[in-house]
Amino acid sequence: MLTNNPNSLHTLEPCAEDMQLLIQKTSDLLVNYFSNISNEPASNITNPEFHLAAIGQPISEKGIKLEEALSLIDQHIVRCSVNTAGGTYQAYIPGGGVFAAAVGEFIAAATNRYVGVWGVAPAAVEIETSVIRWLCNEVGYKEKAKGILTSGGSLANFSAIVTARETLLPKNFLSGIIYTSDQVHASVYKAARLTGFSYDNIRAIETDEEFRIKPKALLEAIEKDKKQGLIPFLIVGSAGTTNTGAVDPISELADIAKANKMWLHIDAAYGGFFILTERGRKLFEGIEKADSITLDPHKGLFLPYGTGCLLVSDGARLKQAHQVGADYLQDLTFSEDRINFNDYSPELTRSFRGLRVWLPLKLYGIESFRKYLDEKLDLALWACKELKKIPGIEIIAKPQLSVIAFRYKSKKLNETNKKFLENILATQKTFISSTTINNELILRIAILCFRTHLREVQATIDAIKIAVDQLIENPI
Ligand SMILES: Cc1ncc(COP(=O)(O)O)c(C=O)c1O
Repeated sequence: MLTNNPNSLHTLEPCAEDMQLLIQKTSDLLVNYFSNISNEPASNITNPEFHLAAIGQPISEKGIKLEEALSLIDQHIVRCSVNTAGGTYQAYIPGGGVFAAAVGEFIAAATNRYVGVWGVAPAAVEIETSVIRWLCNEVGYKEKAKGILTSGGSLANFSAIVTARETLLPKNFLSGIIYTSDQVHASVYKAARLTGFSYDNIRAIETDEEFRIKPKALLEAIEKDKKQGLIPFLIVGSAGTTNTGAVDPISELADIAKANKMWLHIDAAYGGFFILTERGRKLFEGIEKADSITLDPHKGLFLPYGTGCLLVSDGARLKQAHQVGADYLQDLTFSEDRINFNDYSPELTRSFRGLRVWLPLKLYGIESFRKYLDEKLDLALWACKELKKIPGIEIIAKPQLSVIAFRYKSKKLNETNKKFLENILATQKTFISSTTINNELILRIAILCFRTHLREVQATIDAIKIAVDQLIENPI
C-alpha cells in the first residue's frame, strides 16, 4: 500500500495529543511509584508464575490500550521484582537509576541520534566525548587517553583484554598469560574466554588476609611462566572486588607491569567512582599508571543499567585494537580530533549512552555525586560497627569501600549461613546476598544505591538481628 497519509497505516506515529497522553500516563505511573518507593518491600516475587502468565500473553495483531499495557507493567514488573532501584537493595553490586538519567535516556531513544560516527550527530558525540574527558581527568589520565561508554563492566573488561592482546602479543597469541587475584570478578574470565584465551592462560594469584593480591606471589608466577617460554602480558587488578570490596595495591601492580613490559588493567567497575571522594582517591593511588581502567556508571554513578565505561591511557591503542574500516562508511571519516566511536568500540550502531550520563552530571554537578559516595563509605563503617555488636556475628572483611562481609559463627558454617540469609530475606526489610570464599559461604552487605541512607542500613541491621534470633530459636 502506498500512502502519503501515515494515519491510514495505523498508529506508529501518534499525534501531538496522543504523545502527551503517552508521556502523562507513564509519568503518572512513575511519579506514583517513586513518591512511595521507600515503603516498597525489598523484594516481592512470591508468586512468579502469576506474573509470568500475565506478561506472557501472546502479542496480538491489533494491539492493546495504553492503560492496559501500563497496568501490566506496573502490576507485574514495577511492583513485583527485587526492588533494585530501592535503598534496601544491598546485594551483589547495587546501582540505583537516577531519574534524570532516565529522562536523558528517553530523549536519546525518542530522537534516535546516531553516535557511532562523529559527522552524523557532532554534538551528541561531543557529549560522550566530554563525559569520557571528565572521567579521564578524574583518574589522572593525560591528553592522549581515550575511552568508550559500554553496556557495562563486562564489555569494558572485554575491550581492555582485546586492546592489551593486540598491543602486546603476536598474531598467534595463545602463549600470552593473564594474571589476576583469586578474587577477581568472573567477567574477567568470561572476557578472556571471549577474546580467544582458555582458562589455562589465567593465573589466579593468592590474596592476603584482606583479600588483596600478593605482589610477591604475582612476581613469582610471572618468573615461572617466563622460564617456561610463555608470555606474561596482562595484569588485571581490582579497585574494589565484588566479594569484599578489596582494593589491590595498584601502584605496586603498575611497577610490576612496567618492569615486565606488561599491560595493567584495573577493574574498577564496582569501586571506581569512589575516586571522587578523598578516601577513595587515597586508596586508588597510582591508578593513573594503569594502561586501562573499567568504570561502571551504572554502579557508582547510580545510573540505569546498561552504562559502563572503558578508559585507555594511550587512546591510539584502543583504536588500533577495534578499528575495522568499511567501504560504505567512507563518507564518514574525519580528522583525527573528531572521534568516530565505532573505531574505538566493538559496536557500530551504538546506544546514545552519553546523554544519560551527561544530563544528571550537568543538572546536579559533581559535588552531589561526591557527597552521596562519601555517605556510602560512612554507612558501610556504621553497618560494620553495628554488626560487631550482634552476638555470634563474625566480620570476614571490614569495609575498604562499601562492602562488608560477615557470617554467623557455627559448627555447621555453610548450612547455618544459608539459613541465616533465608531468614534475613524473608523479613522483606532488606535484600542482601552471599558469596563463597575458600569454600565457605559468606554473607555480604553492599551499599551503593543512592537511595540507601541510614534508615535503609538500619533496616538491614534489624533484619539481621531478627534472623539471628531465629537461628538461636531453631539452630541447625
Ligand atoms: C568488580 C566488577 N567487575 C566487573 C563487573 C561486571 O560489570 P557488569 O555487570 O556491568 O557487566 C562487576 C559487576 O558487578 C564487578 O563488580
